[in-house]
Amino acid sequence: MASLSALLLRGPSLLRPCPQLSAARTYAAGGDFKYIISEKKGKKNNVGLIQLNRPKALNALCQPLINEMNQALMTFQEDPSIGAIVLTGSEKSFAAGADIKEMSDKTLQFCYSEKLLKGWDNMSQVTKPIIAAVNGFALGGGCELALMCDIIYAGENAQFGQPEILIGTIPGGGGTQRLTRVVGKSLAMEMVLTGDRISAQEAKQAGLISKIFPVEKLVEEAIQCAEKIANNSKIVTQMAKESVNAAFETTLAEGIRLEKKLFFSTFATDDQKEGMSAFVEKRKANFKDN
Ligand code: HXC
Repeated sequence: MASLSALLLRGPSLLRPCPQLSAARTYAAGGDFKYIISEKKGKKNNVGLIQLNRPKALNALCQPLINEMNQALMTFQEDPSIGAIVLTGSEKSFAAGADIKEMSDKTLQFCYSEKLLKGWDNMSQVTKPIIAAVNGFALGGGCELALMCDIIYAGENAQFGQPEILIGTIPGGGGTQRLTRVVGKSLAMEMVLTGDRISAQEAKQAGLISKIFPVEKLVEEAIQCAEKIANNSKIVTQMAKESVNAAFETTLAEGIRLEKKLFFSTFATDDQKEGMSAFVEKRKANFKDN
């Protein structure tokens, strides 16, 4: 049986298998996709890049696109050489939301049997850091997709919005919850009730995104950030991500307890020993992800 420290090291999220992610093993990164492009990037090829590639529909999130995105995510999640993932769209549109044409005639029975947007939130179970690089429209499910990522970088032309109310529905991919936690009640309520969009500058001011770049520089900058992350210890990075995410899911006391356990757990890794020794010896740390 695995010891407690081994289980803690793998982290609670790894104790919960993700059946949807594990089931999809068909494509390798860079494989035969129709709606996305998936490739390895960075000087050490340690960044996974997923580009949504349905330009005629402004990257509307149809079910086959979601399936392909999940397959690429699973491939990068399982590839030990990959330390972080960048998700982007085109310069005009990150994603204009769920595919309204695909969705319009669906029944409650269909939706309730979880057939609508199947596997939509598999991404939230990926333990490697994901950076959203958002140019253009991030609307409805597109905004919610960015919100599921760990870091959001935006191009100067980015527009974020939850316009579902304008087509007679409400956000269904976490918009009322994740957006509200990030930007606060008043702005979230205004966006959800009016369908108005906010600019990259407004999103930055509201804390929805961390940085803004010129449109043509955005993906390069996101890859550079991902490389920085990928050069650190992968196992410790996973613990850090899990700990920050707990801030959105638990009470402060529970979050602090989890953080303390994960902090202590880093002391069972070779990478903590290597990182601290390297500091003392005034050299660069050489992490082995152990
Ligand atoms: C299907 C879409 C689409 C969408 C755009 N298109 N958004 N198709 N679903 N969400 C298609 C258009 O039909 C059109 O195809 C082509 O993309 C270009 O769109 P235009 O409207 O001609 O472009 P433009 O005038 O530049 O306007 C861009 C836009 C607008 C502002 C983004 O397209 C728009 O408002 N889209 C809908 C945004 C939205 O309501 N999103 C929320 C969806 S509900 P054709 O073939 O007609 O030329 C949702 C729920 C999430 O996301 C639930 C959980 C995940």
